[in-house]
This record gives sequence, C-alpha cells and structure tokens, in this order.
Amino acid sequence: MTKYKLAMLNGDGIGPEVVSSARSILETASQVTGLELEFIELPVGLEAYKNFGRTLPPNTIEGMSQSDAWILGPLQTGSYPKDDRDYPMSSGKIRKYFDLFANIRPAKSYIPKVASNIDLVIVRENTEDFFPNINLFKGYGEFWTDKDTVVSLRVIRRSSCKRIAKTAFELARSRNQKKLVTAVHKSNVLIEGDGLFLEEANRVYEEGFRDLRFEQKLIDSASMELVLKPERFDVILATNLFGDIISDEAAGLVGGLGFCPSLNSGEKHAMGQAVHGTAPDIAGKGIANPVSEILSSVMLLDWLFSHKGEERKVYETARVIERAIKKQLSSQDPKDKTLDIDGNASTQEFTSRLSNRILVDS
Ligand code: NAI
Repeated sequence: MTKYKLAMLNGDGIGPEVVSSARSILETASQVTGLELEFIELPVGLEAYKNFGRTLPPNTIEGMSQSDAWILGPLQTGSYPKDDRDYPMSSGKIRKYFDLFANIRPAKSYIPKVASNIDLVIVRENTEDFFPNINLFKGYGEFWTDKDTVVSLRVIRRSSCKRIAKTAFELARSRNQKKLVTAVHKSNVLIEGDGLFLEEANRVYEEGFRDLRFEQKLIDSASMELVLKPERFDVILATNLFGDIISDEAAGLVGGLGFCPSLNSGEKHAMGQAVHGTAPDIAGKGIANPVSEILSSVMLLDWLFSHKGEERKVYETARVIERAIKKQLSSQDPKDKTLDIDGNASTQEFTSRLSNRILVDS
C-alpha cells in the first residue's frame, strides 16, 4: 500500500489552530480506513521569519518538493516586515513557484444560513493577472509618473487562459450537475486582457466541450446575479482577481468564510488551503471555524486519489471526513458548531466531537 507524505504549513493568525484541527481529523479518519499518512511540519510566514529571517525559507521549499501534497494555513499577506528576504511574501508566491495554476473554490450550503441551495465551484486562475505585482514607477506612456503615481501591470497569457478554461470545463463535466460554465470578465473595459481570456475559453469549449453549456457574463452583473439566483450557477471560470473577490461573495452566501475550502493544483503538485485569511480579530482565541481547512484537506485527498495511483483508501478517507462534517453541521446541538454559526464550541471542542463522530460512525 502507498504511504503518503503530507507537509503541514501552519501560516499566521488562526492558521496554527485550523491546520492542527485538519491534521487531527486526517489522523483519525486515516486510522479508521487504514490509510498510511506521514506528516511533516514546515515553517512559513511569521514563524519562519522569527527563526530564519525570511517567510519562505529554502528548507521549506525543499520539504514541500519532497512531499506528496501540502496543507497551508492563511498568510498575513502584505504586512510582513520589510526586511523579510522573501518580501512581498504571499500564498501567490508559493502558487507561482510550484505552478499551482488552478484555484478550485467550491461554495456549498452546508448550513441553511443565507441560502440553502448553493452548490457551485469557482475556478480561478492562480498565477497571473495583477498578482505578480509588477509596478512601474516612472515613464509609462500617458502616465508619466511621479512619486504619487503607480502603474500596475496585469498579465494575461493565452497558455494560462487555455489551461484554466480546460480545468473548468473538465470539472463541470465531472460534476455532472448543471453542466454549465460561466466565464466572468470585464472585456468591455479590459478589452485586450479579458478579450484574450474569453477568446481562449471559447476555443477550448468549441474544441472539446460542446456537450456542456458555456456562457460569458460581465463580472459586475454576474456578482449581483450570484446573490439573487445563486442556484443557477455551476462552475464559474475567472481570472485571478475577479475569482478571488467573487469567491468571498459566494462564501458569504453559504454562511461565511468558515465553510470555504480550496485546492491549489498544477500538473505535479497540489495544496489544500482555506479561502479565508488570518482572521486577526479572532486569532489566538481558539474559536476559529476549522471546517474550511478540513474540507481543503478532503479536496487534497481527492487530488491524491486522482493523481497518484487511485489508492482506494485515500478516497474512502475523504468520504469518511465529508460524511462526518455533514452530519455534525446538520446537528441542532450548539456544541457541534463554532461561534461564527451560532454554536458554542471552541475549535478544539468542534474538532474532538468531529473525531468522535468519525470513530463512532465507522
Ligand atoms: P479574513 O478572511 O482573515 O477575515 C474576514 C472575517 O472573517 C473576519 O471577521 C474573520 O474573523 C472571519 N473569519 C475568517 N475565517 C474564519 C474562520 N475560519 N472562522 C471564523 N471566522 C472566520 O480576511 P481579512 O480580515 O480581510 O484579512 C486578514 C489577513 O489575512 C490579511 O493580512 C490578508 O492579507 C490575509 N489573507 C490571507 C489569505 C491567504 O493566505 N489565503 C486570504 C485572504 C486574506
């Protein structure tokens, strides 16, 4: 039987709390299914800066390269010390380094908070757009700049549009639900960049996915429609920045950032990472909702299953966790839920009740 090595990177703020919860649930569920998992912890973010003077040390990158997959907590993006040798560090840096070009972000109604019938996935390009953070400080066309002007470049490449579109169409086909891909864009203003994005998405559709439906919507009106009729969406295809924003909107519709997992994936590597940030307002209080990070590890197991040899126990471990979460969240007992969804369980209490449920139900 294959043994998988998972790297755990805590990150900042509530990161250590939710990553440790995800690890504990993986340990319990793999015990039940007999899956062999080995965990290694790698420093990243402030913890790494304190010990090594940088937020993404070379040893961490090496450890990631030698692992089958990784789970990352949130990072305090944009506010690391300026003398950090990896400045400006962000999850984007890791995504770019390992070419994790697809950010798959499901939004599903686990609790009937705002809307009870949402089951959609945002497929967000993960390496380009404004995120490479390329700024010109002087001498750019009509914006002949001075110290009070910044010109930022948006990068959109045909090859990236093609692979992210293919990922979205393949996902819509494998989900086998509404079989609908909605590309969101602003091509009426961003004529060249979003024009290229749409042209390539359309080509991918025409060449291999005519069994599905494909539509294109302006990001502004699509954002409104997402609130008014969320149930009509299936897979939303987006460039990096629009995908980032619309996924937090979708998070709000399904009960908050505590319920939104994500998978960052490329050809060779994958990383589970909750959609939320470091939540500084609740960090260290032990009350964070760990569901997003736990569900991100479920997505990671599914990726391992489909990319590393279809080991049945990996698949079963993912299902055991998923079933237990659904059951726990449908319970009326406030001890089964964290504070953000009107429960009274701490992160640890939520995690140990989920562990017990896994053991009892299996
Ligand atoms: P945030 O996602 O950290 O928090 C927004 C709100 O949601 C807060 O009220 C927070 O308490 C709540 N929240 C988030 N996750 C929660 C959870 N698991 N359980 C319960 N409540 C939760 O966004 P914010 O405050 O805008 O950003 C804080 C920091 O996180 C910033 O430094 C930002 O750059 C960083 N960030 C990092 C991301 C990443 O590493 N993937 C993603 C988004 C933000």
